[in-house]
Formats: sequence, C-alpha cells, structure tokens
Amino acid sequence: MTKIVIKATENGPCLIEVDGKKVAALCRCGASNNKPHCDGSHIKIGFKANATEIKV
Ligand code: FES
Repeated sequence: MTKIVIKATENGPCLIEVDGKKVAALCRCGASNNKPHCDGSHIKIGFKANATEIKV
C-alpha cells in the first residue's frame, strides 16, 4: 500500500511525500509566483505558521 504524508513545515510549504520520497513542495503562504508550487517567496514575506503532519 502506498504511504502518503503531507507535512506542513514550520513557516514554509507543505511537503508531499510518497513512500518516503518528497514529490512536491506546495505553497501555503499565497505569495508564490509558481503556484501551486513553493518558490521560496514565503521567506521574503516572513510567512509564519506552525508545523503539522497528516498521514493518508
Ligand atoms: S510556501 Fe513557499 S512560496 Fe508560499
């Protein structure tokens, strides 16, 4: 069975992992110029958010 984990990183994007391999970093700050992917803009805007993890 495939294991999918969504990790919201502290002050950063949501990392999508499939069977332990990172497959995507999705923006959750709203500032990326390459949505839905994170382009690092969260650092420039000083995005603050807690880390959390969801296992699917
Ligand atoms: S979370 Fe990285 S650009 Fe939005």
